[in-house]
Amino acid sequence: MVSRVIPVDPFDLVIFGGTGDLARRKILPGLFRRFCAGQMPNGSRVIGAARGEMDSAAYREFVAEAIAEFGGERACEDGTLDGFLERMEFVTIDARGENGWSDLVELMRDDVVRAFYFSVGPSLFGDLAERLTKHGLTDADSRIVVEKPFGRDLDTAKALNRDLAKHFDERQIYRIDHYLGKETVQNLMAVRFGNMLFEPLWNSQYVDHIQITVAETVGVGGRGEYYDKSGAMRDMVQNHLMQLLCLIAMEPPSKFDPDAVRDEKLKVIRALDPMVPHHIVRGQYEPGEDEPGYREAVGDPRSRTESYIAMKVGISNWRWAGTPFYLRTGKRLKARSSEIVVVFKELNHSIFGEAGEHRNELSIRLQPNEGITLGVTIKEPGPGGMRLMNVPLDMSFAEALGADGADQTDAYERLIMDVIRGNQTLFMRGDEVEAAWAWTDPIIQGWEARGDVPKTYDAGSEGPVDAVQLLARDTRVWRKVAP
Ligand SMILES: NC(=O)c1ccc[n+]([C@@H]2O[C@H](COP(=O)([O-])OP(=O)(O)OC[C@H]3O[C@@H](n4cnc5c(N)ncnc54)[C@H](OP(=O)(O)O)[C@@H]3O)[C@@H](O)[C@H]2O)c1
Repeated sequence: MVSRVIPVDPFDLVIFGGTGDLARRKILPGLFRRFCAGQMPNGSRVIGAARGEMDSAAYREFVAEAIAEFGGERACEDGTLDGFLERMEFVTIDARGENGWSDLVELMRDDVVRAFYFSVGPSLFGDLAERLTKHGLTDADSRIVVEKPFGRDLDTAKALNRDLAKHFDERQIYRIDHYLGKETVQNLMAVRFGNMLFEPLWNSQYVDHIQITVAETVGVGGRGEYYDKSGAMRDMVQNHLMQLLCLIAMEPPSKFDPDAVRDEKLKVIRALDPMVPHHIVRGQYEPGEDEPGYREAVGDPRSRTESYIAMKVGISNWRWAGTPFYLRTGKRLKARSSEIVVVFKELNHSIFGEAGEHRNELSIRLQPNEGITLGVTIKEPGPGGMRLMNVPLDMSFAEALGADGADQTDAYERLIMDVIRGNQTLFMRGDEVEAAWAWTDPIIQGWEARGDVPKTYDAGSEGPVDAVQLLARDTRVWRKVAP
């Protein structure tokens, strides 16, 4: 299969926070891989910006080190790194002051796409937006990219939207949720809307329930202080899991166009049932052999923040009424695994009697080993009567698509190229983010009002026992958390 690189226009990409952790681990190595793939046209540049004193030569060393550490296995041929580094510049700039802005004005060019990546804390978004316009650095075609978290509740998200809207149109604002940049997430749309096979079955008449799991093996690590103010609900559910839920549940958009797709996602969020407390299980991990427990890791022995959450969610619309969506995410679990599973209903009549299972499951794995598997029922081979068994029809991208499948583009690099291309399909619109907060806010407020204390769970387990019971009450079981 021939890999196709769709060209983009030459650009100046300014990374505010260009020396930060995200730039080092994701943005810069991702850009390098796009450069290696031939997708960074001549004349394109990346301009790191932060308060630290550094010149462009020192920044190039910084970038080279980041690529050596996080560039992945797809190294470029000898000499190519230099070609990439030549495109790096750096300006010392303060988002909150006047220092450095004239240097940036001098550096920027008029005849290329201008994109500004706000890879800084959200408290700086408003300052950056204001100074960019004040210094005449933007025009109607300029884009800004903003990182999560986009607010910590509805009010703060609205305030951020207002601050950005003072200076930019919605079509210029790219709110990143890197889950949307994953190959399989887009494949989910291709599978649903590019095949006749699934869409007729994609409703409560044929789907028993849907499970969405995002499991991590790591704990809060060095992010304890930040994480404890957030928790799994704000950090994972309000954004990543809800985006996955939207894509799996939305109506077919009239076309694959940013607003058509986002309109349909928004309708899903607005149709979510309000949550009831006994449909939610919150957890905190216990100490493991080699790592402290949650409370010790965040430095608060009385912390009530959840490192795990499982919930049963209902969608009140024609398509999904009566089909539960079970969502769960947590830290320090048994395996690192992100997966969506569509569990179809049992046959309404089996001509084979009790000869085996007749339930189809479509599993969409986001990580690791991105791929899609459909469990189908066949006859067990050999003589001995009609015994049935379930076998996977497996589309592992690595196997099915050869080198192109194995060598997948990282979510960040894909999304950055979409910004340059001006395609907002895989980015969250302001009203989507606000609707997601409007749904999550009362849940969090309920916990706070009731003084809800998370259940504990063993590090390396599949989560609290109560989460198992959440499904057992509905005579269902979670899929194993397995790599
Ligand atoms: N790291 C991740 O994996 C990750 C994942 C998802 C989302 N995010 C989000 O991405 C953003 C950046 O995260 P990060 O982990 O890279 O943070 P970080 O490591 O703390 O880096 C922050 C960057 O911003 C710069 N900065 C801070 N204050 C500034 C100011 N007043 N003016 C200009 N530059 C300033 C810092 O450099 P100076 O101190 O030299 O100015 C540094 O380059 C945050 O919103 C975070 O929530 C991060």
